[in-house]
Amino acid sequence: MAGISVGFLGMGYYVPEKVLTNFDLEKMVDTSNEWIVERTGIRERHIAAPDQATSDLGLIAAQRALEDAHLSADDIDLIVVASESPDMKFPSVACMLQDKLNASHAAAFDLGAGCTGFVYACGIASQTIASGLYKHVLVVGAETLSRILNWQDRNTCIIFGDGAGAAVLGPVEDGYGILSVDLGAKGAGGKFLSMPAGGSRRPATHETVDNKEHFIHMNGSEVFKFAVRVMGHSTLNGLKKAGLTKKDIGLLVPHQANIRIIASAAKRLSLPEDKIMVNLDKYANTSAASVPIALCQARDQGRLYKGENVVMVGFGAGLTYGSLVVKWHKTEEAKV
Ligand code: UT7
Repeated sequence: MAGISVGFLGMGYYVPEKVLTNFDLEKMVDTSNEWIVERTGIRERHIAAPDQATSDLGLIAAQRALEDAHLSADDIDLIVVASESPDMKFPSVACMLQDKLNASHAAAFDLGAGCTGFVYACGIASQTIASGLYKHVLVVGAETLSRILNWQDRNTCIIFGDGAGAAVLGPVEDGYGILSVDLGAKGAGGKFLSMPAGGSRRPATHETVDNKEHFIHMNGSEVFKFAVRVMGHSTLNGLKKAGLTKKDIGLLVPHQANIRIIASAAKRLSLPEDKIMVNLDKYANTSAASVPIALCQARDQGRLYKGENVVMVGFGAGLTYGSLVVKWHKTEEAKV
C-alpha cells in the first residue's frame, strides 16, 4: 500500500461474565447441544449483564488496547466503532467512547458493515494514517447481539454472542503492517440477514413489535452459501494485491461464524488447522467483535510473530465481505 506503513500497535478484548451454554439453550428452544455442535461448532457464548450496553463492552476493550499500545486516549485522532447493535440509533457508540475515554482530540463515527465491520473499519481507518491525515486510530468492534435476538427463534438465537475487541492502528516500520485491503459487498443479498424494523422504512409500531421485526432475521443457508464463496475469494484477492500467494499465509484469523464455513475456506486455501485461529466454540458469532477477539487471543497464545503474514477475513450483513493482509511488525509475547 502507498504511504506510511500502518500496523496494529495494541489490542484488547472483553467478553461479559455470563456464559450461556448449548445445554442452557436446550431449555429455551427446541434444539440440542449435539445439533449445535455438529452444525456450527459452537458450545457456549457470553451474554451481557442487564446493565451493560455495547459502549460498555467496547470501552473495556478500548482501554485494554490503549494500555497494550502504551498510548493514552489523548494520543488518539479518530475512533471508529463497527457495530450492528449500538446503544441507540444515535449518537454513535464511537462518540460515547470518545466521551468515556476522554479522547478529547479524536473525531468519532460508527460504521455498519455487519460482521465484516472490523475488517472494513481497519481497512478504511488505515488509509487515514497512510495518507498522513492521522497518526493513531482506535478501531473497535463491539456487539450486544443478545438484545436483538428473538430467543424463541432457534435459527438465530443459537449462533450469536456478545463481546468487544479493539485495536490501536498507527505507523510501523516500513514494509510491515497492512499490506492490502480487499473489501466488497453484494447488496442484493441484504434481505438474507437483516433487522427489518426500527428504521425509516418500518418505524417502530405496536405491529412491528408484535411481529418481532426488531430482531435479527436470517436465511441461514443463503448466508452460508455466500460465506463459503467469499471467504476464500477475498483471502486470495487480498493476497494477490499484496503480491503473495496462499502458501505465504502464516495465520488466518477468520470471522467466527460456523466451523463448517471456516473448514471450507481452509480447504480452498490448503491451510492446516494450526494456521487458523478458531475460538467460536467458546464465544459463538460476536459479529463485528469476532475478528478482533480472535486476533487478541492469537496474540495471547503467542501465535503472532514479526514478519508473519496474518490474514483477517470476514463476511456479514449487507451482504459484505473483506480481508486484510498484515505483515506483523513485532513478535507478540504469549500471555497464556
Ligand atoms: O455472521 C453472519 C451471520 N450468519 C451466519 O454466519 C449464518 C450462516 N449459516 C449457518 O451457519 C447455518 O446455515 C445455520 C447454523 C444457521 C443452520 O445450519 P444449516 O445446516 O444450514 O441448517 P438448516 O437451516 O438447513 O436446517 C436443517 C434442519 C432443519 O430441519 P428440517 O427442515 O431438515 O427438518 C431445521 O429446522 O435443522 C433444523 N434446525 C435446527 N434443529 C435443531 C435449524 N436450526 C436448528 C436448531 N436446532 N437450532
